[in-house]
Amino acid sequence: MKILIHADAAKAVDCVADLLVQRVQRLPASVLGLATGGTMEAVYARLIAAHRAGAVSFGAATSFNLDEYVGLSPDHPGSYWHYMRQHLFDHVDFDPACTHLPRGDAADPEAEAARYEAAIVAAGDIGLQLLGLGHNGHIGFNEPTSSLTSLTRIKTLTRSTREANAQYYQRFEDVPRLAITMGIGTIMRADEVVLLAYGAAKARAVAALIEGPVSAACPASILQMHRKVTVVIDEAAAAELTLRAYYAEVHPNGGPATI
Ligand code: PGA
Repeated sequence: MKILIHADAAKAVDCVADLLVQRVQRLPASVLGLATGGTMEAVYARLIAAHRAGAVSFGAATSFNLDEYVGLSPDHPGSYWHYMRQHLFDHVDFDPACTHLPRGDAADPEAEAARYEAAIVAAGDIGLQLLGLGHNGHIGFNEPTSSLTSLTRIKTLTRSTREANAQYYQRFEDVPRLAITMGIGTIMRADEVVLLAYGAAKARAVAALIEGPVSAACPASILQMHRKVTVVIDEAAAAELTLRAYYAEVHPNGGPATI
């Protein structure tokens, strides 16, 4: 696990955007695993800027998002389809036929989850998976106690996750209770994982992810078992790490390792 601690959130965001851009420059036909949430908005703004500057094209890339709320159609303003169009897809050159999210309004959500998993497998699995981190340690919508080998399926959201997303809805009761999410096993098949978290509110989950026991109580902790994970955080999110000084010595200011 590579742990890059940056001075502030803006530098952490730049770092993650650079990792994505470099991957697509190197492998234009990359299969990208994309995430939503407040954390990613700034990353997507950087990708749009890089695209407008001519530094990167997504024209040959494919994307699969982590999750979508059950019951919301792609045009619902609270849907992740809507989020992705608003924050990324409408502003860069992805082929719309190559951008994928689960259909939250599918008549049979379980069949939709199975179809989505099969589509990821058929694409050759995810090349680079971008992840945020829930306050409770979730990745995608794999809430605590999720099977660490799970595939794409329906999950019931915790109250804390619904509260964290309530700002996007008029009433708390309107926040969906169920989501279709890539499983932890799906995420673990990715060639490379980049997780971004910043701010003091994420410090406890970050410590559990990096230094805690591997446990379904903190689903992100399974990333300790992945071959190629980069965790990009700011100082505030690093506050509860026991070995923080060591990580900073290996990668000063989140930069390349010094020999
Ligand atoms: P956030 O969500 O970026 O809105 O904090 C992260 C997550 O729940 O994965």
